[in-house]
Amino acid sequence: MLHKETITELIREAGKARENAYAPYSNYLVGAALLAEDGSITRGCNVENASYGATVCAERNAVFSAVAKGQRRFLAIALVAGPKDADLPAEYPSPCGICRQVLREFCDPRKFSVIMARTEEDYRIMTLEELLPESFGPEFL
Ligand code: THU
Repeated sequence: MLHKETITELIREAGKARENAYAPYSNYLVGAALLAEDGSITRGCNVENASYGATVCAERNAVFSAVAKGQRRFLAIALVAGPKDADLPAEYPSPCGICRQVLREFCDPRKFSVIMARTEEDYRIMTLEELLPESFGPEFL
């Protein structure tokens, strides 16, 4: 179980990460904050490209940055997303299928929390297992 203060901090960090999102094509800015087992937090934002398929989501950006720093086990991720000029996003941000699979590689899906936040007070939490049931992971190989 995550403490309320940890949830709030992760949402705040995701919001800061979102400020750096580069999304001139979709205008949909996403920020992620990934909590590692050692307590460290790594930010990620979406980075789009004129060749659209080269775009990377905020979640994968955070995972790959953390792995590059030597992290391998994660406990939670917070997401904040919405159109550039909207005050309050209408939806709770949901990680795409590719990002769910990438997260699956480095966590226990039964315990890993995905915090989908509209504001610091308004969020939903689901486990990765709920978002990616019957998943395939490293232990199969
Ligand atoms: N995006 C993310 O960063 N994370 C998701 O889980 C959903 C989609 C980004 C990719 C693209 O830059 C924009 O949102 C619209 O798809």
